[in-house]
Amino acid sequence: MAGGAGGTGEGISTASLAWSIIMASFAAFGGILFGYDTGTIGGVIAMEDWLTTFGTFSTEPIAGAVNNHYLAANNKSLVVSILSAGTFFGALLAFPLGDMVGRKWGLVSACVIFCLGVGLQLDVHWATFVVGRVIAGVGVGAVSCLVPMYQSECSPKSIRGLIVGLYQLAITIGALLATIVLNATKNQHSHSAWRTPIAIQFAWAFILGGGMMLLPESPRYLLYKDNLPAARKALSRLMTRPEDSPEVEAEIAEISLALEAERQLANNSYIDCFRNTANRNSFRTWTGILLQGFQQLTGINFIIYYGTTFFLSAGITNAFIVSIIVSVVNTCMTIVGVQLIDRVGRRRLLLIGALGMCVCEFIIAIVGVTAGKTTGSGAKVNIPAQRVLIAFVCFYIAFFATSWGPVAWVITGEIFPLAIRAKGMSLSTASNWLWNFGIGYATPYLVDPSTTGPTGIKTAHLAVKVFFIWGATCASCFFFAYFFIAETKGLSLEQIDLLYRESTIIGSNKYRQKMLAENETFAHHESDKADDEKSHV
Ligand code: BGC
Repeated sequence: MAGGAGGTGEGISTASLAWSIIMASFAAFGGILFGYDTGTIGGVIAMEDWLTTFGTFSTEPIAGAVNNHYLAANNKSLVVSILSAGTFFGALLAFPLGDMVGRKWGLVSACVIFCLGVGLQLDVHWATFVVGRVIAGVGVGAVSCLVPMYQSECSPKSIRGLIVGLYQLAITIGALLATIVLNATKNQHSHSAWRTPIAIQFAWAFILGGGMMLLPESPRYLLYKDNLPAARKALSRLMTRPEDSPEVEAEIAEISLALEAERQLANNSYIDCFRNTANRNSFRTWTGILLQGFQQLTGINFIIYYGTTFFLSAGITNAFIVSIIVSVVNTCMTIVGVQLIDRVGRRRLLLIGALGMCVCEFIIAIVGVTAGKTTGSGAKVNIPAQRVLIAFVCFYIAFFATSWGPVAWVITGEIFPLAIRAKGMSLSTASNWLWNFGIGYATPYLVDPSTTGPTGIKTAHLAVKVFFIWGATCASCFFFAYFFIAETKGLSLEQIDLLYRESTIIGSNKYRQKMLAENETFAHHESDKADDEKSHV
């Protein structure tokens, strides 16, 4: 029997698998768009032509100035962090888009918004450039939520983790591509130095938007909108089975029944996302919001955004190469990670990953403040200590890439019941971007040395000691995963719904195994419940 989109069946046919891969690959371009866009700005604002076009002219010698042009600190933080403001609102926009025009057309609209933002960034006026960043951010934010939503609603249950995980892989590939393109154009002496890396983003949007137009709409969304004929057609395409086949029929019955049970609770407003009824909406919403927040609190973007400057300040001379190595480790280990999700399980991977990252961060912090210390009179760079630092940063990235990187998106895509899925996912993704912004903004104040003079800033100057903080937050990630994350490996979205209604978090793996052993579905469960009620009358 074919596993199909919802996967009430046991296996998965080759044709269905091929179709899932096509669907996942197109949708994954959303990840490339996300990773590439966040990865370009740092390089663009350091380019000579960009600085002469947008920077401030000064006759005084100023650190970091190129051709007497520099970017003042407030403008730098504006142009870098304004994207996160856009992405935050874009993630919130994903709910009306995903529920009103649908997952498929929502993604196409997000691509149009993104292209508008990219187009504006090709202009040579500061205000247009900044507005372009915000608008592109809105597109990225909406895409970052709608892609995993679409993927999890359309993939067969047995490989859902792998398919949504491919989105994370695409994010890392996007960041890697950004590094390569920036490196190739950075020495050009015309506007094309920065316009080329920015304009390349049209390609990602065209592939994603164009591909989505050819793909079927999510059958779950169509049933949610009571469009049974279209849902049947979409399921038949996704499952590669005739529209009137028993497999398609069973799938429709299962999704409709779970939807009906939710509708009986009549709870699908934003307030209802925070109410605990029989289906534990509030618990699920907080799980999504906190999970995405904790993903950022692992400290990953400290390395991604500030890696180069951090390595330099730690006395590592070829810091640029180290950050390319970090990018490559991130991409390669994500390839390993996506294959583990449906084998090892979500909960277990998060627990192992949190523990692994925690140990690495404490080792980096301890080595950094002892053997690796570079400040103080006569302190020399300790080469073996530097190597240990780099090695443990790579181990840390490897743990992230095989756990919290992909798994956070997989879980966010599967824990919400259909009636509040778009709202729950958009709140969770917005939390990711809010923390992303907060950590990105606060990091220089935590890590860098204080500066004096009229524009001087007082900072905490933690330097490598900041890894004690990341170590502690990773320990919190472990406890969060232990108490909040259920094991959902191999279950259909409707079975997950049932699991949240019927099981505790700690006992979720046992309940899951029982469900799989008895091939428990929403439909069976409801009819057993009805029989029980009858026998009690
Ligand atoms: C995170 C991003 C991060 C990226 C790194 C994503 O899952 O949400 O903030 O930059 O992984 O690979």
